[in-house]
Amino acid sequence: MNKIDLKQTYLDFFKERGHKIIPSAPIIPENDPTCLFNTAGMQPLVPYLKGQVHPEGKRLADVQKCFRTNDLEEVGDKTHHTFFEMLGNWSLGDYFKKESITWSFELLTKYLNIPIEKLAVTVFKGNNIVPADTESADIWKSLGINENRIAFLGEEDNWWPNMELTGPCGPDTEIFYWRSNAPVPEKFDTKNDDWVEIWNNVFMQYNHEPDGTFSPLKNKNVDTGLGVERVTAILEGNTDNYQSSIWKDVIKKIEELSGLSYNDELYTASMRIIADHIRAIVMISGDNSGVKPSNKDQGYILRRLIRRMIRHAKKLNINIESNWEEELASIIINQYKIYYKELEENKATILEVISNEKVKFNKTLEKGLKEFEKVTKDIQNNQIDKDTAFRLYDTFGFPIELTEELAKELNLKVDVEGFKQKFEEHQEKSRAGAEQKFKGGLASTGEMETKYHTATHLLNAALKKVLGPHVHQKGSNITAERMRFDFSHNEKLTEEEKQKVEDLVNEYIKMGIPVEKLEMKKEDAINMGAEAMFLEKYGDIVTVYKIGDVSLELCGGPHVQNTSELGTFKIKKEEASSAGVRRIKAILEN
Ligand code: SER
Repeated sequence: MNKIDLKQTYLDFFKERGHKIIPSAPIIPENDPTCLFNTAGMQPLVPYLKGQVHPEGKRLADVQKCFRTNDLEEVGDKTHHTFFEMLGNWSLGDYFKKESITWSFELLTKYLNIPIEKLAVTVFKGNNIVPADTESADIWKSLGINENRIAFLGEEDNWWPNMELTGPCGPDTEIFYWRSNAPVPEKFDTKNDDWVEIWNNVFMQYNHEPDGTFSPLKNKNVDTGLGVERVTAILEGNTDNYQSSIWKDVIKKIEELSGLSYNDELYTASMRIIADHIRAIVMISGDNSGVKPSNKDQGYILRRLIRRMIRHAKKLNINIESNWEEELASIIINQYKIYYKELEENKATILEVISNEKVKFNKTLEKGLKEFEKVTKDIQNNQIDKDTAFRLYDTFGFPIELTEELAKELNLKVDVEGFKQKFEEHQEKSRAGAEQKFKGGLASTGEMETKYHTATHLLNAALKKVLGPHVHQKGSNITAERMRFDFSHNEKLTEEEKQKVEDLVNEYIKMGIPVEKLEMKKEDAINMGAEAMFLEKYGDIVTVYKIGDVSLELCGGPHVQNTSELGTFKIKKEEASSAGVRRIKAILEN
């Protein structure tokens, strides 16, 4: 078995080649209305790929916590995960194709010892915007990749992210590995699934504007991404990702808790689901954004993960009332705290979140399963009707996806559309909104979003002034239509307090205060009393936005130049978000 520590080898390699290793951004993106979670290493770097100067320089590398919901139902097989880690290296207007490709090749073949015979690559064949990428192909050839192993493909395969999404984009070259014991075919057949993609190097030269045009970016950038789980399994010679060293301890613990074997096909899928979900649950609830299980947005996903995990633990006859979830969570925290130290700091919260949700769900799970059995016994049309699906949700706490999963096991369908209607009738529109957001892509920061962004800083400052210094930002979400701001505070705001806060923000706007962008050492910013929501996100040099004497906050921007640009600020709603956290919804009017 290959004992290489992939993450450390990767980061050391790029550090030696002039890259600054930056910390992973939180798994919950800040101020990005289009996505609930970070889904790729480049996502938090979008402003810098668009031309903003990164305080750490032009060469960056990191390991980023990522979470994708689109594969959630697929988890259970050999290769799918919800949470995963992405290694990436970036050039912000510095090196381009030659260095990028050469270094990828060098790392793979010399440091990770992958034989060149097992590699193949794809490059962009060109379209009406960009010509074929013969330059990349030539570089690959010069490194010894045979012409037979280079495939030219179109924009569906070799353009990132795709031709529809707005934001930074460009052609890419993807590196594939022959993951099979069969002899490596001479010619690279991109349709053969034994060739698996291991690394994607994107050459970002364009910004896809909201009006549909592709304008050249200020800089030619490189953005690469390599999935840790897949490549670790490959290096260790596994075709089942869950048998790699990443999962060894957690699977062993699940076997121990259940007294069952991973190799027993009856239980393998449930074990993979528990292993995947507990890791995702730890990462989401351990993020400094303080997400708690709820019926909307990230909180809903967290709830689904915990409840699905519990249901599979039950299938394995694990005693739900024992502290099994704590034992599993502790393994994950220990394994990952070197890279994500917030997991250790938030350990008590993580354990509390899982155990509270477990107690809540455990009360109704048994009864819900009985109810499910009862209704499915003499079912009509092989379909669970909307009223039953809604009752399972409302009374027994079964997320609709859980009902669907149970139904699938009996070859039954669920009237999901009908359920959704009922759900909407019950005025819980937010989950549907959340689904929309998963479909969304990268953030586009328009004029209105920028205004709202600055307004969050003013609101944060006003709240502190009216309610006290204990107020800190706990989260925010911005669209072109409105802003949402979560902050630490224990009580509902009185009408008077709300009015005072609103008036104060409007006063700051009227004062026409310039918004200044400063760069300083993180230490100095903290000493100056700057607000910071996600300290771990920032490197040693930080960007701080100063709004006169009103506000000083660590932030990546963007912001307006002067507060007078904001119009009139109006609080629309004030409500509880989770324990000790309040939420304000507000708009800006002209
Ligand atoms: N953004 C590209 C990806 O996610 C490369 O990092 O594949």
